[in-house]
Amino acid sequence: MASTTILFLFFCFFFLSLTTSTTATPPHPSPHNSNNNKQKPITLLSSGGFQIGGQKTINPLNSSETLTCDHAYVEYFFPARPRKLSFLLWHSSSTQLWQNRWDGGPGYKDLLLRRGYPVYLWDGPRVGRANWGCESYLYEPHFGIDELNFVNWNFGEKFKIWYDDGVQFPVDDEEAWIQATSARYAEFDVFENVKLQSEVMAKAVDQGKLGEEIVWVTSSAGGFRAQLAGTLVSKDKIKRVKGLIAYESFGYVFPDLKEVREEIGEIDEVEGFGPSFVLVERFKKFTEGLKFIQFVWGDHRSEDHEMVQMSKKCAEWINRFGGKAEVVMLREDAGLKGNTHLPFADLNNEEVLGLVEGVLRREGLDGFV
Ligand SMILES: *[C@@H]1O[C@H](CO)[C@@H](O)[C@H](O)[C@H]1NC(C)=O
Repeated sequence: MASTTILFLFFCFFFLSLTTSTTATPPHPSPHNSNNNKQKPITLLSSGGFQIGGQKTINPLNSSETLTCDHAYVEYFFPARPRKLSFLLWHSSSTQLWQNRWDGGPGYKDLLLRRGYPVYLWDGPRVGRANWGCESYLYEPHFGIDELNFVNWNFGEKFKIWYDDGVQFPVDDEEAWIQATSARYAEFDVFENVKLQSEVMAKAVDQGKLGEEIVWVTSSAGGFRAQLAGTLVSKDKIKRVKGLIAYESFGYVFPDLKEVREEIGEIDEVEGFGPSFVLVERFKKFTEGLKFIQFVWGDHRSEDHEMVQMSKKCAEWINRFGGKAEVVMLREDAGLKGNTHLPFADLNNEEVLGLVEGVLRREGLDGFV
């Protein structure tokens, strides 16, 4: 009798946990999870990848030996019925963050493909799948980066103490946290690399490798690289870049004028987080070329944050030079709550993308081929 009760209780518990796990927490990454399955399949015309940029270097010790290196890697996905505008997704930590939401649900890549936008995933020279660099480097394990990731990605003020008014992350899912913190590449955040990566992007646009109508969507330090790339694209090709959506950009580009330098203050040119000053002519080419630039901030970002302030100053200078830039605070300006440093991977990423779709509609950039 006793054992039947125990068995019955066990069964109830098992049944209960099954029901809650399927309704409340979506299971972790697997092609079979997610409510996506109820939707129509994503139909692609083609997908693939290619290298762009790079150089052939000669062995200083033997001139008949060469090494081709420092190229970027691009993976592309073209929908069967595409829109005209393509999205170039430029990471800071890793491409993975564009592929899935924190809980394993659809990331920007699939959300955009479903909406008919061609998608390019970008790994700049030396990072990710473009790690065939021309220079030697040392990978050193960085103990403490898990704890830093938690705070830097704005999940909470202290490691594993989530903001108590909500975070767009499955906070009770330890596997989601492990997935997030391990999805990283070595970043090489020094200015020399920022420049190299920006130059190769400019080349990709110039050569038409990313299509005729592109929007750059960037994460963190990717935003700095994109701004710089915008000043490097040639004058007759910059109009291919229709806009820039920079999520929590760490690093800003300014026109090289005495009054701007005075306003911004002293900078360290070696550091990979800017700011950077470029010739006025180059700055104007960038600001006048793009139809829109948005610097977007997640929740829990104070007005005093150094980078938030910098984004406002940068937007002002862009607008003074004929551009159309705005700073968007997701909570204050758009009513979205709990967004992290990577809003495009957050649980409400469809709402965050909805704001981008609004901009594209406003600018008349959402048409089909
Ligand atoms: C230089 O490189 C070529 C090609 O790899 C090789 O055949 C040759 O032996 C090398 N010369 C020396 C001196 O190592």
